[in-house]
Amino acid sequence: MTDIIIKSKIRDYRVKFVDNFKFLEELAGINNHILMVDKNVYNLYSDMINKSFRKDNILVIEAIENNKTTDKVIEIYRYLINKSAKRNTTIISLGGGIIQDITGFIASTLYRGVNWVFIPTTLLSQADSCIGSKTSLNFESYKNLIGTFYPPAEIYINVGFLRTLTKLDFYSGVGEIIKLQLMKEQYPKDFEEIVKIVNKAKKDQLYLPNLIKHCLEIKQAYFKNDEFDLGRRNLLNYGHSLGHALENSSNYYIPHGVAVIIGMIFANIISLKRGGINRNLFNYLNDDLLIPNIPIKLKKEHFSYNILLNNMKTDKKRIGKELSLILPNSEFKMTKINDLSEIEFKKGLEFLIEILFGGCLKRTVSTKKGLVYQQMHSNSDALKRGNKFGIRSQVKRRDDL
Ligand SMILES: NC(=O)c1ccc[n+]([C@@H]2O[C@H](COP(=O)([O-])OP(=O)(O)OC[C@H]3O[C@@H](n4cnc5c(N)ncnc54)[C@H](O)[C@@H]3O)[C@@H](O)[C@H]2O)c1
Ligand SMILES: [Zn+2]
Repeated sequence: MTDIIIKSKIRDYRVKFVDNFKFLEELAGINNHILMVDKNVYNLYSDMINKSFRKDNILVIEAIENNKTTDKVIEIYRYLINKSAKRNTTIISLGGGIIQDITGFIASTLYRGVNWVFIPTTLLSQADSCIGSKTSLNFESYKNLIGTFYPPAEIYINVGFLRTLTKLDFYSGVGEIIKLQLMKEQYPKDFEEIVKIVNKAKKDQLYLPNLIKHCLEIKQAYFKNDEFDLGRRNLLNYGHSLGHALENSSNYYIPHGVAVIIGMIFANIISLKRGGINRNLFNYLNDDLLIPNIPIKLKKEHFSYNILLNNMKTDKKRIGKELSLILPNSEFKMTKINDLSEIEFKKGLEFLIEILFGGCLKRTVSTKKGLVYQQMHSNSDALKRGNKFGIRSQVKRRDDL
C-alpha cells in the first residue's frame, strides 16, 4: 500500500503501511535511539523486540492515563538526561495513544524537539491519533489540558499488532472509525454503507489496512489547512466534549473511543432537539451504529449531571459563557455551537440516560417529522435511504448488547 505524506507547518511526515516487522531492525540501527514501549506491548512482543533492540536502549512505560502527566514526563526527562541523551537522539515510540501522547510530548520538548518515530499498536492510534501532530497530557482531573503540536517524522502501521488487543480496546478504535466515517465529505451520505464498513472492520482483519488509510485521509482533510486547531479542525471534536467528561467521571472505566460514541449520541440528541438531525436517522444511527458498538456495561453513577457539567466547562474548545458542542445535521455536515445552555445540557443528558439505561428507546416518530424529512430530501438518493430508516420495533436493552 502506498504511503501517506502529511504536509505540516512543523515538518512534512510520512505514514508507512507495512506487513512485516523488518522495519524494527532498521529502526534499531539508528544512532542514539531509545525505544519507549508500552508495558503490555513489551510483554506480548518481547521476543521480537529484544531480537532488534538492545535492552539498555529500551524504556518500558505503563500505558495508563495517570502516566499522561508532567510528573511522569519529568521522570522520563531525568532518565534520558542520565543516559546522556543528546540533541540527535531519536525516540521510537511503540504503543497506543497513551504512549504516543507521553512520548510525543517528551520528543517535542526535550532540547526543543528531537527526532521522533511512532509505531502505533492500537486500532485507535493507527486509524486516528497517529496523525495530526497533537501531543497531550492530563492536568489534575482534566483530560488533555496540556500539550504541544509535534508530528512524528515517520509512522509505521502494521495491523498485525491489533490481533492481541482486548475486545474493549478494539472497540475503542471502532468508536473513532465511526466518527471519521460519519464525517467523511461525501454527499449525499450513505449511512447504510457506513454501518457495513464498520461491521466489516470487526470481522475482517484483511480489510483493516484500507480502512485505516481511508480514516487517516478523512482526518487529514479536516486539519489540512488548520493544523493548529483554530477553526475547521475543531469539528473533529464531534463526540469529544461529553466523551472527555465521561472518561473522567468514570475514572477511565469507559475508554476514549467508547466515550466518544456516547458523546456522539449526546451531540445527536442536541441536534435532534434543535431541529438538525431528523428523528429517523437519529434512531437508525443509535440502533445500528452507535449503541451496538458500546461493548461494556455502563454504570449510571458515571452520568452525574454536576460532574459532567463541571467537566464540560473546562473543555478547551469552549469560548463563551455557555457550553460548546459540535453538532451534525442530517447529512453530517458539522457545525460548532457555543450557546449550549446548562438547562439544554441537562435535558439532553436526561434523554441520553433514558436511551442508555431506560431499557426501551422511544420509537414514536410523528408522521409530521417523517413528512418533513421526505420534503427536505425529495428527489434525492437520501430519500430512498430515508425511507429505509423506518421505525424499529426491535427494542434493544443495554444488558443484551
Ligand atoms: N494525540 C492525539 O491526537 C490523540 C487522539 C486521540 C486519542 N488520544 C489519546 O489516546 C489515548 C487512547 O489511546 P488508545 O486507545 O490507543 O489506548 P491506550 O494507549 O490506552 O492502549 C489501550 C490498552 O491497550 C494496550 N495495548 C496497546 N497496544 C496493544 C497491542 N498491540 N496488543 C495488546 N494490548 C495493547 C495498552 O497497554 C492499554 O492497556 C487517550 O489517552 C486519548 O486521549 C490522543
Ligand atoms: Zn479522540
